[in-house]
Amino acid sequence: MSQQQTSSSENTQSVFRQKYHNLLDNPEMLDYGTYLNCQQLLSSQKPLTELCNGDELQFQIVHQVEELWMKLMIYTLVDVLEYMSQENTLRVVSLMKRVNFIQRMMSQQLDLLETMSPKEYQQIRLQLGNGSGQESPGFRTLLKMPEDLWKVFDKGYVTGRGKTIEQVYDSQYSHDESYIVAECLAEFDEQLQKFRSLHILLIQRSIGLEAKSLKGRAVTLLENGAKHRFFPELWQVRSSMTDSWGQAYGEVRDPIHREKGQSSSGCPFHHTASEES
Ligand code: HEM
Repeated sequence: MSQQQTSSSENTQSVFRQKYHNLLDNPEMLDYGTYLNCQQLLSSQKPLTELCNGDELQFQIVHQVEELWMKLMIYTLVDVLEYMSQENTLRVVSLMKRVNFIQRMMSQQLDLLETMSPKEYQQIRLQLGNGSGQESPGFRTLLKMPEDLWKVFDKGYVTGRGKTIEQVYDSQYSHDESYIVAECLAEFDEQLQKFRSLHILLIQRSIGLEAKSLKGRAVTLLENGAKHRFFPELWQVRSSMTDSWGQAYGEVRDPIHREKGQSSSGCPFHHTASEES
């Protein structure tokens, strides 16, 4: 590329940059923008001229969006707590569907940060002071909620109905309201585990798992969080059911497939050609 061409392409870049950054910095607020408080929302990121590199805006926005999703989740879970205490199951199920959907989106959105190079993230990291995700206001509140959810669920749908989790899932299983609400909670717990596990993969991709956090803690400590189960009874009951079914582990069972020429004492729906002739 000639010197003249290079300087003309640089000029074009700066013209575009000026034009669009100016629009980003001075958005027009009509009714839509006013209702959504876009003025405040769009100025909640660092000024464009102060960003340390081309990835920092993405980094801030992803984290801010995740905080907004957690705000909506917490707000919705408060409604869930009230509807659960009224045993209004249809409402509980609809709202837990929303909560669990948000969790799936939160996990998916972590992927966006994998488009950031590890080198550029090191520059961003210097901007964070001692901050870490463990200080996330949304996540800290969210971690307080499972205990209350379990208490209210137990009162309305388990102990309060004279049942145990074992009966709901196994000996008196009837796919009833207690079971359906329990499964909403299991899904909630599972999605939190998935978020934590995917977040660990993101860390592996960006700073590496051997690194220390900005608080000086080993990143591998996060693995304990990812293994944590908020509603252990809901997971334990599955293991107990499997164990009680498979009491005779080690016992050699008949194979479910048949070797050529074996008699058909097994499945009545499957006949070999020789049996049919
Ligand atoms: C490149 C991106 C990211 C990196 C390198 C990263 C790194 C880390 C590290 C090192 C910790 C442990 C902090 C400590 O022990 O003090 C942590 C915790 C945490 N981060 Fe991130 N993070 C990233 C993105 C995100 C995003 C997008 C969210 C969105 C909500 C998030 C939420 C959290 C939360 C909630 C914790 C506490 C986790 C727990 O207690 O299980 N992080 N992060």
